[in-house]
Amino acid sequence: MERTLSIIKPDGVAKNVIGEVIKRFETDGIKIAAMKMIQLTEAGAKGFYAVHKDRPFFNSLTDFMTSGPIVVMVLEGENVIARNRKLMGATNFEEAEVGTIRKDYATNIEKNVVHGSDAPETAAFEIGYFFNAFEIQER
Ligand code: CMP
Repeated sequence: MERTLSIIKPDGVAKNVIGEVIKRFETDGIKIAAMKMIQLTEAGAKGFYAVHKDRPFFNSLTDFMTSGPIVVMVLEGENVIARNRKLMGATNFEEAEVGTIRKDYATNIEKNVVHGSDAPETAAFEIGYFFNAFEIQER
């Protein structure tokens, strides 16, 4: 059993596709082990995306991520990191497979609806960034 962090970004919340995204997870058999809606501060966004701090898109990304509420979730299931990434599609929605969340709802490479951890180490960091042990349920 594996866990991953999923974020529905401000564009996804604004487009009213929270339910649609969650439906895709649940239809795939993925369990939601924790969930909340928050709005990131500038410091919160910069800390979360610290690995990207030297990339040219960093400031734009953190501005976008603080621009409205987000939904953060812990997803649980076998091989859930890879399964979530398959459901999301490629970071650049133009390269994403048909039927993926990003292909269906992204606006551009930045406003790409969802985030998902890319490896067990990043999942552990990202889950701990938003949730403590008491907020995560065993599914
Ligand atoms: P995410 O999977 O959350 O990881 C980093 C985010 O930076 C990415 O999704 C996009 O929202 C954003 N981003 C903006 N420009 C780029 C880019 N050129 N390459 C990768 N990510 C980008």
